[in-house]
Amino acid sequence: YLILPHLSDPVIIITVAISILSFVITALLIPQTKDLNIKANLFGRDLNKGEQGKKMQVPESMGIVPGTTWVVTVCLLQVLVLSISPSNAKTMEWNAGLFSSCFMLFLGFADDVLELRWRYKLILPCLAALPLLTAYHGLTTIVVPKPFRSIIGSIPFLDWLSVTDNSDVIASGVITILELGILYRVYMLLMAIFCSNTINILAGINGLEAGQTFVIACAVLVHNLIELDGEFRDSHLFSLIYIVPFIATTLGLLCHNWYPSQVFVGDTFTYFAGMTLAVVGVLGHFSKTLMLFFIPQWLNFFISVPQLLFLHCPRHRIPKYNEKTKLLESSKNFTLLNAVLEITGPMSEENLCKVMMAIQIVSCAFGFYVRYHLSKLFY
Ligand code: UD1
Ligand code: MG
Repeated sequence: YLILPHLSDPVIIITVAISILSFVITALLIPQTKDLNIKANLFGRDLNKGEQGKKMQVPESMGIVPGTTWVVTVCLLQVLVLSISPSNAKTMEWNAGLFSSCFMLFLGFADDVLELRWRYKLILPCLAALPLLTAYHGLTTIVVPKPFRSIIGSIPFLDWLSVTDNSDVIASGVITILELGILYRVYMLLMAIFCSNTINILAGINGLEAGQTFVIACAVLVHNLIELDGEFRDSHLFSLIYIVPFIATTLGLLCHNWYPSQVFVGDTFTYFAGMTLAVVGVLGHFSKTLMLFFIPQWLNFFISVPQLLFLHCPRHRIPKYNEKTKLLESSKNFTLLNAVLEITGPMSEENLCKVMMAIQIVSCAFGFYVRYHLSKLFY
């Protein structure tokens, strides 16, 4: 009931109409362009299909199509939507966000072509986040959750994070708002690195990269629609203009990437998707809510830490395909996919992806519950 009234809003109608077009364009363009990628040696082997998969060449880096379509759509929407509902104050920041997503798309494509080593991959989001970090002139404060207010107030060295609150409150040792200053940019950078890499490493079975992105983006859209009447309408409107075509183009890609994959998304897509989600979360000022939608990615990240940092990290950490049963089994690598297989037992690739989608949807629903119910206890 919070969402329905917005569906007659002209801004939403235009955004949805043009996004449907961008879905159709993406879905039609991918089969047209995939042979070009194979010709350019941009293809991969489907690793979960056994001997049969070794013979096939699946076009890689097809994220370039939804990525490019998304950039064009957002540019068009900005012209159309902002002429109806002007909100100029934030345009520059959001354009910087667009720039960061574009830059990430380019660097992701470069990574696919050059096959960079794992440690260099971490540098890419840092470079791509630069436009966002430099153009940002918004809030650099955070609201301190209730249980931490007096704890933070009693830590002496935090004084230099000049607190923008009235001095009586500070004198009583209770801090409600912290001015992070330059640290806020560090926080934005960490968001960009986290989002792009965690989506990229929760991967390896057909449909997973695009599927998780699609579900998270839908959750972001619902959050924006709920908040559209709130105090921060402008931020959520911008986020919406970015996220609706993002959902559309991701869905266009998913049509071809779902099991059995006709195309692979490539790091082109995973990095671009992570950066775009980070951009809307940061500029829309709902990054904590966004992090709640990333619960499966957090889990996979925590499970992966030993292998990423301390143990030997193989090139691929995907489940093991059993040629006889045609099912996937745990490969004992440290990933969420293997953890799920350890619990459920062997499963087909398609079912495993469906289970992962279910986990992602439940996580987002839980995220909403925390955001709109539990958070009242903390803020
Ligand atoms: C990340 C993971 C790696 C995982 C890979 C799969 C880490 C540190 N890295 O590496 O463990 O194996 O993603 O994407 O966790 N592929 C399939 N089926 C799919 C998707 C991909 O077989 O549904 C294979 C294809 O051979 C494809 C390749 O994975 O060519 C793409 O791998 P890439 O995205 O380049 O791997 P990374 O992102 O480096
Ligand atoms: Mg990848």
